[in-house]
Amino acid sequence: MARELAEMMKAGVFRALLVTFITCLLLSCSEKQSVDTVAVAKAEVPIDGAELYKQYCIACHAEGPGHPGTMRLGIRLGEDKAVLTKRTDLQAVYVKTIVRQGILLMPPFRPSEISDAELEALAEYLSTITKT
Ligand code: HEC
Repeated sequence: MARELAEMMKAGVFRALLVTFITCLLLSCSEKQSVDTVAVAKAEVPIDGAELYKQYCIACHAEGPGHPGTMRLGIRLGEDKAVLTKRTDLQAVYVKTIVRQGILLMPPFRPSEISDAELEALAEYLSTITKT
C-alpha cells in the first residue's frame, strides 16, 4: 500500500514536471515568435521623413496660428521663416542638432523617441523639401 502510494506520487511529480517543461517550451517559443514578428514588421516600414515630420513636429510647426513653433519663429526670424516646410535655408546638421538638444520652448527628442536613422531622414526631408 505504501509502495503503491509512493509510485503514484512519483508518477504525479513526473507528470507535473512534464507539464511545466512543456509549458516553458511553449512560452519560450511563442515569445521568440513575437520578437521575430516585431523585427519583420519594423523592417518592412520604410523610414519616411515627411511621415516623421507629421508625427513629431507638425503639431508645433504647422502653418497658421496656434502652433508655438511657427509663432515663435515668426517673431524671432520673420514670417517668411516661420513655417519649417517652406524654408530653403535649413541645413540637415542644424535640424539634427535642434531636435536632439531642443531650443527654448522646443523640447529635445531622445534616440528612444526618434532614432538616429529616423532623424537622418527627417533632417534630409526638411533640408531638401521642394519649397513652394
Ligand atoms: C512642443 C512644440 C514643438 C515640437 C513638438 C517641435 N518643435 Fe521645433 N520648435 C518649437 C519652438 C517653439 C521653436 C522656436 C524656438 C524659439 O526660437 O523660440 C522651434 C524651433 C525649431 C527649429 C529652429 C528653426 C530656426 O531657424 O532656428 C527647428 C529646426 C525645429 N524646431 C525643428 C523641429 C523638428 C524637426 C521637430 C520634430 C522632430 C520639432 N521641431 C518639433 C517647438 C516645437
